[in-house]
Amino acid sequence: MIRDLFEGDERDVHLAPGAMLLGGFARRFEGPLLTALQRVLELAPLRQMVTPGGHRMSVAMTNCGTAGWVTDRTGYRYERHDPQSGHPWPPMPAVFADLAVQAAARAGFDGFAPDACLVNRYEPGARLSLHQDKNERDLEAPIVSVSLGLPAVFLFGGLRRPDTPHRVPLAHGDVVVWGGPARLRYHGVLPLEEGYHPFMTGHRINLTFRKAA
Ligand code: SIN
Ligand code: FE2
Repeated sequence: MIRDLFEGDERDVHLAPGAMLLGGFARRFEGPLLTALQRVLELAPLRQMVTPGGHRMSVAMTNCGTAGWVTDRTGYRYERHDPQSGHPWPPMPAVFADLAVQAAARAGFDGFAPDACLVNRYEPGARLSLHQDKNERDLEAPIVSVSLGLPAVFLFGGLRRPDTPHRVPLAHGDVVVWGGPARLRYHGVLPLEEGYHPFMTGHRINLTFRKAA
């Protein structure tokens, strides 16, 4: 894929009104970002949660920030505590918040104040089916989504589930921001392909920043 040759290049691509791909935007934060991520994963380990329908998700998840997204048999919601440990989620590292706020501003959303960061880990074969992010109380704030490690194909759909999604290749360091008229667009991730990435052997990590409360 030609895109891979230009991994991490700085290029802004307009995806839809209110939605932008910021190519390589996270690269300048890389060192501190990966160190901070490691610390979050030690405090709140990744786990495969169960959907209300009883399916174990192929993507492993955890959170940092004052609110964390969780799912179990009783539903999808935000929780202040990690249900696995009973402790509050790890605080959002400053470098996470800086990256999210700067990416949002570049995409036209000034004053973004994320209080939740969902960490998703995809192993080869893991996928995320089309969904809307709508458990957040504040739908005025955008979603900022950071890709790390192996490349993936992001599906960026419309406001109705049947709308045919765009296929957006995402590489290490790419950031996608959607808000305003794009805030409730359906999106998902195609099954991850096998690969090797020097910073993240054999998998992909995605950070999604939201204002949940
Ligand atoms: C998500 O929708 O929460 C994750 C999207 C991604 O992994 O790129
Ligand atoms: Fe999502």
